[in-house]
Amino acid sequence: MKLSIIGAGYVGLVTGASLAELGHDVIIMDIDRARIEKLDKGIIPIYEPGLDRLINKNSESISFTTKMDEVIREADIHFICVWTPPLKDGSADLSAVRAVARDLGKAFAKRKIKTPIIVTKSTVPVGTGKAIRQIVRKEYKNDFSVVSNPEFLREGQAVADMMHPDRIIVGSNDEESAKTVASLYQDLRAPIIITDIATAEMIKYAANAFLATKISFINEVANVCDLVGADVESVAEGIGMDKRIGKSFLKAGMGYGGSCFPKDVRALQQFANHNGYDFKLLKSVIEVNEQQRQMVVEKLINNLVTLKNKNIFILGLAFKAHTDDVRESGAIDLIIRIQKQGAKIRAHDPLALLNARRDLDDEIKFVAQPYQGAQGADAIVIATEWPEFRDLDWSVIKKQMRNPLIIDGRNLLDPRQMRSHGFIYEGVGRR
Ligand SMILES: NC(=O)c1ccc[n+]([C@@H]2O[C@H](COP(=O)([O-])OP(=O)(O)OC[C@H]3O[C@@H](n4cnc5c(N)ncnc54)[C@H](O)[C@@H]3O)[C@@H](O)[C@H]2O)c1
Repeated sequence: MKLSIIGAGYVGLVTGASLAELGHDVIIMDIDRARIEKLDKGIIPIYEPGLDRLINKNSESISFTTKMDEVIREADIHFICVWTPPLKDGSADLSAVRAVARDLGKAFAKRKIKTPIIVTKSTVPVGTGKAIRQIVRKEYKNDFSVVSNPEFLREGQAVADMMHPDRIIVGSNDEESAKTVASLYQDLRAPIIITDIATAEMIKYAANAFLATKISFINEVANVCDLVGADVESVAEGIGMDKRIGKSFLKAGMGYGGSCFPKDVRALQQFANHNGYDFKLLKSVIEVNEQQRQMVVEKLINNLVTLKNKNIFILGLAFKAHTDDVRESGAIDLIIRIQKQGAKIRAHDPLALLNARRDLDDEIKFVAQPYQGAQGADAIVIATEWPEFRDLDWSVIKKQMRNPLIIDGRNLLDPRQMRSHGFIYEGVGRR
C-alpha cells in the first residue's frame, strides 16, 4: 500500500522504515526542512539502533518531502506522527496535530481522493480523533476515515519493538478502515486488538501511566528499604517472579524521564480532571518521581555537608541508556538542582552530550572521557544506566577523585565491588 508518515521524529522514522520493510511504499514528510535535507542525503538525524540499516535497505520504497501536496499525491493512508508536547497545565499541546489535520483537509480538497484514511500514531488525549474529523470536515466534504493506532515503541530499541510488538491497537468508529490499517501489520504476526477510537486513545495513556506507577511504587519501596536496611534489588526480584506482578519496570532509582512518561502521566491526570475525575493515584506517581531526584541531592548533601564549590561529576545525561534523547531527562533536572546548591558540574554521556549542551548553561563542563571528569571530583553521580559505566576502571577513577563518593542514582554498580575499591557508595534502597 502507499502510505505517508507525517513527522520524521523517533516515531515517524521508525514507523516509516518498518512499514517499508513490510513491503509498503512510504513517503515521509516533515516541516523541518533541514531534517528532510539530511534524510535525503542519507543522514539519519536521530540515534536509534538499526534504523539507518533499515532505511538504507528499503531506500527504493522510502522518499522524503516537506510538501503536503506531494504526500497526498503519493499516498492513500496518512500516519500522523508529530510531537504532542506538554503545555504548562500538563495537557497535551495538539497544535501540530491540528495543523496537520487542517493541511490534510485542504490537500484532500484540491485532489478529490477516494476515501483517504488518517491514522494518529502520536499520543493524543481521548477525543482527539473526533476533533481531527471535525477539522478535516471543514476543509473536505467527501468521505474520509480517522483511525487511532497508538505507538508503544521504546527509544533505544524502537526498531525491534516496531518489528516485534507485544500487540497492535487499532481504533476506529469505521470498521472497514480499522481492518485496512490492521492489515498493514499482518506480516508481523502480533495480536491485533480492534476497538473504537476513544478506547484506543485511552489504551496508550493507561499503558504509560501504569508503567510509570510501577516505577514510582518500587521507588517508594526503595526509600523504605533505605530506612529499614532491606535491599530493594532483591525485593524487586522477589516480587517480580510473581507472574501477576512481572519483572519489568521494577528498577528503583532517580525516577522516570523521557519524552513520554512524564508528559503522558500528566496529560491523563489533566484530561481525567477536565472530565470531572480526580485521578489521585497519578498525583502521587508524579510527586514520588520528583522526590527521587531531590533524594539524590540530599544524599550528596548528607555526605558532603554542603555542595557549594564542590566538584560533582555526573555520569549519564540521556533519559535512559542506548539513546541520545535528553527530553525530561532525570540527569538534566538533577544537574539544575545541584547547580542551585552552588556545585561545579562536569558531565559525560556516550551519546547525548550534544543534545544536553543545548539544554544546559555554559557553566557545565562536558567531557568526552569519563576519566577526565573524575579528576578532582568530590562525588560522582550515576544518572543514566549506561552498561559501559560498569566496565570503567574504577580503581583509576578512585585515584583521580578528591573524595571517593559515589551516589548511584540508577543502582547500576555493584556496591560490594565499589566499597572494595575504597569508595563510599550509596545506591537507592540498597544495603
Ligand atoms: N519517542 C517515543 O518513544 C514515543 C513512543 C510512543 C509514542 N510517542 C508519541 O509519538 C509522537 C511523536 O513523538 P516523537 O518522539 O517521534 O517526536 P519527535 O519530536 O522526535 O518528532 C516529531 C516530528 O514532528 C515534526 N513536526 C512537528 N509539527 C509538524 C507539522 N505540522 N507537520 C509535519 N511535521 C511536523 C517535527 O519537526 C519532528 O521532526 C508524540 O505524540 C509522542 O508522545 C513517542
